[in-house]
Amino acid sequence: MCGITGYIGYRDAHPIIINGLKRLEYRGYDSAGLILYDGKELKMSKTKGKVSDLEKRIKKEITTTGNIGFGHTRWATHGVPNDVNSHPHFSESENLVIIHNGIIENYDTIKIELINRGYTFKSDTDTEVLINLIEEIKKTENVKLGKAVQLALNQVIGAYAIVVFDKTKPDEFVVARLGSPIAIGIGEDNKEFFIASDASPFIEYTKNCVYLEDGEMAVIKIDREIKVRKIQDDSLVDPDILQLKLNLEQIEKGGYDHFMLKEIHEQPKAIIDTFRGRMLVNEGLIRMAGVDDNMQKFLNAKRIIIVACGTSWHAGLVAEYLFEDIARIPVEVEYGSEFRYRNPIINKDDIVIAISQSGETADTLAAIKMAKEKGAFVFGVCNVVGSSIAREAHAGAYTHAGPEIGVASTKAFTTQITLLSLIALKLGLANGNVSKTDYHSYLQEMELIPKKVESLLEINDKVKYIASEYKDAKNMLYLGRGFNFPVALEGALKLKEISYIHAEGYPAAEMKHGPIALIDENMPIVVIATNKGHYEKVVSNIQEIKARKGKIIAIVTEGDTTVKGIADHVIEVPETIEAFTPLLTTIPLQLFSYHIAVMLERNVDQPRNLAKSVTVE
Ligand code: AGP
Repeated sequence: MCGITGYIGYRDAHPIIINGLKRLEYRGYDSAGLILYDGKELKMSKTKGKVSDLEKRIKKEITTTGNIGFGHTRWATHGVPNDVNSHPHFSESENLVIIHNGIIENYDTIKIELINRGYTFKSDTDTEVLINLIEEIKKTENVKLGKAVQLALNQVIGAYAIVVFDKTKPDEFVVARLGSPIAIGIGEDNKEFFIASDASPFIEYTKNCVYLEDGEMAVIKIDREIKVRKIQDDSLVDPDILQLKLNLEQIEKGGYDHFMLKEIHEQPKAIIDTFRGRMLVNEGLIRMAGVDDNMQKFLNAKRIIIVACGTSWHAGLVAEYLFEDIARIPVEVEYGSEFRYRNPIINKDDIVIAISQSGETADTLAAIKMAKEKGAFVFGVCNVVGSSIAREAHAGAYTHAGPEIGVASTKAFTTQITLLSLIALKLGLANGNVSKTDYHSYLQEMELIPKKVESLLEINDKVKYIASEYKDAKNMLYLGRGFNFPVALEGALKLKEISYIHAEGYPAAEMKHGPIALIDENMPIVVIATNKGHYEKVVSNIQEIKARKGKIIAIVTEGDTTVKGIADHVIEVPETIEAFTPLLTTIPLQLFSYHIAVMLERNVDQPRNLAKSVTVE
């Protein structure tokens, strides 16, 4: 995700900013930029690419320096990665400058209003709209920067962490936060201040830190106590000045031991960010340009072919149940590596959906190129904006999971399912296979999912205990039915790829067609037995296993008493509708694999033999 860093004080700002950006590189980004105020002018340099590319560019473009400056690493959400869309962004007058993390959902309506007032825009970003809104308010209301920012932020919908600077008043800057973190490092006697997305850029300068809370802003001025206010009503807030205890590595992982655990815990926010601005529950709307602009193609489609690899392939299997159950559109799910070589029959009104977190998986990319040659319409579901698969597809939609650093996919899986659920619902409503009432119930339930995932993450210690019981297993089976069959596959993959224990996922009913021969007291079996969809049949599968002395770890719906009386261990997940159970049942399986891998002292974030993105065959 994006990174912000800034400095105002008595030191040379340039090296502090560049080093700060390097500290934030772990967050993942596609472009970088900075602005320095040299006492007279604002000097900006920005580029698509890495901080090292920015350093080369600065050598040519900026010859002066100063004691104030801000830097940004961008993870594109609106506007593809390129120099113009990189941050910082000037206002029309070039007196104001902004850097921004987050998404302004209603930027399009604000942009139209500003264009009508004569504003012009250089970039495709929501950020440039925000800085011109602030400029317009500052002008028309004749207020100081802090007030203009406060008024502007009361007009925007979305998430942001921003730093705004006015070169006509160069002894201060304004920061504000809603849904995206900002840390303020406070130098001795308020002689200098540091701004950053987390404390890693300034930890060696100061350990005094204020983390703005959501809905708060601050005007930061040299030689003055930091003033924190509520954006909503401008009321003063008494900030908590913390003494940081974390070291650099702990800060990058957000205090978690591994990126994978951090990303498991980021899932509530990642799911919100994925449906934010798309799912308007009160209006009963799902807005998704890639689908809206091609709705007729989707409605005419006789078949949807989903192409993916690994975890994304498992998300594709969940999507098969979603699309066929909700939108009644036939779906087949293909491994990219198989599809690209088996000379498949692709009809002109087929739709191919490519699912890929990285957007760079070679087999998936080759598969959609072949599909396009055969006349298919290709829709991409990617997490990395501007990635190869996203660019190769005719249209698409991005999961807004933020960068996934751990090799084992976690938030990619749940955000892919979130996005695919919205698409299935949108098509089901459009083709009349979902009633408005049911559609509304789905939307209301989806809105509750992040909180349910949040509450589910509290079972961590229980899962850790169960993991300690089974960390020495040599094999494991994972069973699920219906929507949870793909979750069984995904749970097995998680265990395999980070703990190196062999595991297999199966449809629960398949046990009797062979695998039941494996069952004995040495075989742990994870069974997903939530109370929706063939529950009784799964219970009888559990009894079959019990009769053969298998050790059973059951994932059940909160309050289940039946399975509790049979299984060796029970992990409860909140109640939800059947179609959304994968968003919950996958969480304990992610944690289970994580804790076993840690206990086995595996390299959790970079497991052996694996790469985060398989860009070769
Ligand atoms: C899953 O945890 C793995 N990281 C791997 O299976 C991954 O899902 C697969 O390589 C596909 O990657 P993609 O989503 O970036 O295309």
